Amino acid sequence: MTNSELLDLLGQEHRLSPEQWEQLFATYTPADVEAAMAMAREIALGWFGRKIYFRGIVEFTNYCKNDCRYCGIRCSNHSLSRYRLTQEDILTCCREGYRAGFRTFVLQGGEDGWFDDEKMCTLIRTIKQTYPDCAVTLSLGERSRASYQAMFDAGADRYLLRHETADPAHYALLHPARQTLENRMRCLAELKQIGYQTGCGMMIGSPGQTPRTLARDMVFLQEFDPQMVGVGPFLPHGDTPFRDQPGGSVELTLFVLALCRITLPRVLLPSTTALGTARQDGRIQGILAGCNVIMPNLSPAAVRKKYMLYDNKSGTDLTAAQGIDLLRRQMEQIGYQVVVGRGDFGKEENHD
Ligand code: 5AD
Repeated sequence: MTNSELLDLLGQEHRLSPEQWEQLFATYTPADVEAAMAMAREIALGWFGRKIYFRGIVEFTNYCKNDCRYCGIRCSNHSLSRYRLTQEDILTCCREGYRAGFRTFVLQGGEDGWFDDEKMCTLIRTIKQTYPDCAVTLSLGERSRASYQAMFDAGADRYLLRHETADPAHYALLHPARQTLENRMRCLAELKQIGYQTGCGMMIGSPGQTPRTLARDMVFLQEFDPQMVGVGPFLPHGDTPFRDQPGGSVELTLFVLALCRITLPRVLLPSTTALGTARQDGRIQGILAGCNVIMPNLSPAAVRKKYMLYDNKSGTDLTAAQGIDLLRRQMEQIGYQVVVGRGDFGKEENHD
């Protein structure tokens, strides 16, 4: 089959075989990327219209016990100054975000044992009591089932945990031995069972990634059927073992985003900060590849430069309000508008 026939098949069946996926990634051309983006854009327009959901991210701790080889906040990076926001700081971010129109708050942090279940549950309850019309999304990495359950019971709605790669050997190249793909998959399965709207995802162009590992990612996505998918290019960070590795291709990232939209038509798909960092108009291109979510940073200016997962992270020199304005303008430039609302999976509002 030609690649263009594979894209049509994907559009109809929403799945391909591992071999078919591998062929697409091994042989794609700029014309294939164009075609996939056009198809993905049409699907997104059909489900969501020209509406983009905004989520406010609060990066509340850069302490992390993990040692992911790609990540700037890995525990072995001793040149980083570490911070934790207080509950009061976090609530201030939410207050500003609420005023700016956000109805989802994403609490993201490294795997920091200081934020135990009791602290997290108190925080989640306080946010949900103060803003009953808002969703709380967590992005805190791997925890126990009991912990996920307790935070869900406290009111958390969604959880983002990228699987990073669905290939065990590739996973082992990106992480030290004590971090396993098996545990990551255990977490994702439990999150979904508990009832979170669950997000997984992967970096594009991480060291060791091949057409075959990407094929495994896509097969995993079509089987796991997540409500959200996070995909951005790998970008090197100078204080990690991958400092000299090349960054991921923007074109391949856009291709994968488009393929995610075609595979999972209603998925919540953010146009990521990493994409906006790799290329000035990256986030606009992401929307044109079928993304329907943007996640501006609500973190206080004082800590932004300390949450550097990769070098030159976009927006770290802006205030929250400036960052939001810029993204709003970028969306308007291409005829899309930002909506105020929780933007839950499967609850698309009427858009015509
Ligand atoms: N480049 C791009 N993305 C990265 N992440 C971590 N480090 C990098 C990097 N160097 C991504 C991972 C993680 C998410 C929070 O950020 O996919 O899950």
